[in-house]
Amino acid sequence: MCGIIGYTGTLDAKKVIIEGLKSLEYRGYDSAGIALLKEDPEHSLYIMKEAGPVSVLEESTKEDAVKSGCGIGHTRWATHGGVTDQNAHPHTTGRVTLIHNGIIENYRELINSYNLAEQLVSETDSEVALRIIDYYYEKYQDPVKAIKKAVGVIIGAYSFCIMFAGDPGKIYCIRNVSPLVAAASETGALVASDLTAIVPYTRDYFVLPEDTIAVLSKEGITLTDLSGNPVEPEMLHADWDVESVKKGGYPHFMLKEINEQPEALENTIKPRIAKGLPDFTEDGIPDSLFREAKEICIVACGTANYAGMVGKSIFELLMRIPVNVHIASEFRYEDPLVGPGTLCIVISQSGETIDTLEAMKLAMEKGAKSLAIVNVKGSTIAREADHVFYTHAGPEISVASTKAYSVQLAALYLIACRMAYVRGALSEQAAAAFLQQVLKAVPVIQELLKNVVGMKHVSEKMVKAKDAFYIGRGLDYAFSLEGALKLKEISYVHAEAYPAGELKHGTIALIEEGTPVVAIATQEKIYQKTISNVREVKARGAYVTLITKKGKAAGSDLCDIHLEIPEIEDEFTVFPVAVILQLIAYYTADGKGLDVDKPRNLAKSVTVE
Ligand code: AGP
Repeated sequence: MCGIIGYTGTLDAKKVIIEGLKSLEYRGYDSAGIALLKEDPEHSLYIMKEAGPVSVLEESTKEDAVKSGCGIGHTRWATHGGVTDQNAHPHTTGRVTLIHNGIIENYRELINSYNLAEQLVSETDSEVALRIIDYYYEKYQDPVKAIKKAVGVIIGAYSFCIMFAGDPGKIYCIRNVSPLVAAASETGALVASDLTAIVPYTRDYFVLPEDTIAVLSKEGITLTDLSGNPVEPEMLHADWDVESVKKGGYPHFMLKEINEQPEALENTIKPRIAKGLPDFTEDGIPDSLFREAKEICIVACGTANYAGMVGKSIFELLMRIPVNVHIASEFRYEDPLVGPGTLCIVISQSGETIDTLEAMKLAMEKGAKSLAIVNVKGSTIAREADHVFYTHAGPEISVASTKAYSVQLAALYLIACRMAYVRGALSEQAAAAFLQQVLKAVPVIQELLKNVVGMKHVSEKMVKAKDAFYIGRGLDYAFSLEGALKLKEISYVHAEAYPAGELKHGTIALIEEGTPVVAIATQEKIYQKTISNVREVKARGAYVTLITKKGKAAGSDLCDIHLEIPEIEDEFTVFPVAVILQLIAYYTADGKGLDVDKPRNLAKSVTVE
């Protein structure tokens, strides 16, 4: 959470930083700020920070001509302290200016031990870190020593970018857990929370190793560990370009990303096909991992967790092996029953979700093997896992996850297929046929995206709703969890997903005249059972949208809107259903005039517990 950027070089730093903040804004958008070390003899500081989106900061700084090639910028997702100008970053004191992403856990103790209470002007933990660095900087007059001393007493997750007025033209960075990537280009050196702010300048970058001090200057970047030894970073290359982080003619990133799903699926699946079967040789994932597993535990948060729920059904169906799906933030504190013999599949688009990361570490400590399904290359989860399956969705900017969900599903289907094959649960022929069905999701989604009238129609009802229900049985229930989350997070309509058969045990009391219910009935073996539940809500006045496979009779006594998915076998209906549910949420939020890509209170990458 929080987006941070630093730049030093030959370009106009203000412009680079404001542009960078715009692309990082999806990480947090409560407030934004910029600090520039001016190129005057005193190297005086220009600072502007305020509550509100980056556009507010841009407007406020528009008229200020600041001659500077060195600065830092921040877009905030509040943790400690409200959304105020004062709490916005950068924070500055004396000759030190800092931006921070993360949480300083022992900030209260530090306030006491360094007698900071009287000095603090904000309510943030970040300012405490700043004042400690400043204390040591004044003591030793040495930026590196000051940083080392400070991180020696700070407990928590952090990525810091710091400017020292006594050392103009340089930006000092260090991180623990919270992400930072850096790159040197022809026009200077950059550091940022993620690649989106860097790709306009270069696609070659590295992830700043933890406990390493990076010093950026216009000549390049030097890295040293905390003992002063040089550190050689592992260079990475971004396989997507600057166009991927633009809206490309769509009104919102979310709509663009929904439409990118066929391509994202192809990019994720096709490079992993050899002799008609899923093959992970290039990923370095050995078959022994699948052969030796006695059980599977899937750990993730939010949408990734709901992808895991679908995965569970597929694994259990193909292999009859026990699969437990855990919410990462709960898993950590429930003394989970995992150990040697457990294959822990961790799912995360960003690869930075702290709960997921810590859950994975715990599973590994207990002896489980980890396989991470991650979209962002070089992210922390990807680096710490035993094995990584990279999804190739390209950058997902909209806070609401769409294409990342589809490729996570594809990854799970491919893994299930390979695993079932190597364990002898699927013959070669059956595994190849299964893989063909996964691939079929691509044309099926393409067909679906050609006509979105039905989804727009559903949204016309949803925009007026206070509550909505998503119901289904079995796999359809797993899909409905994601549908309800999508609607809630971007349209602010309260939505609940319910197993269709469970409604009558309480929740059906909430159904009244006109309550929208989205019923998903794509699974043949339970179709009639679900339909009986649909009749129960219809009889009580619900406004029903029914999603089925083609050719199902659905008169006005059963539903108000009938949406049919293109032909695909039952186990794979999640792909088209997901797109329908995403579009219902999208058109509802858009119809309410909401900021679809930046829903209130949320941030894309959740790096706090
Ligand atoms: C999805 O729309 C959400 N914004 C959210 O639930 C997200 O999936 C969750 O925070 C997990 O993120 P990750 O995949 O980056 O770990």
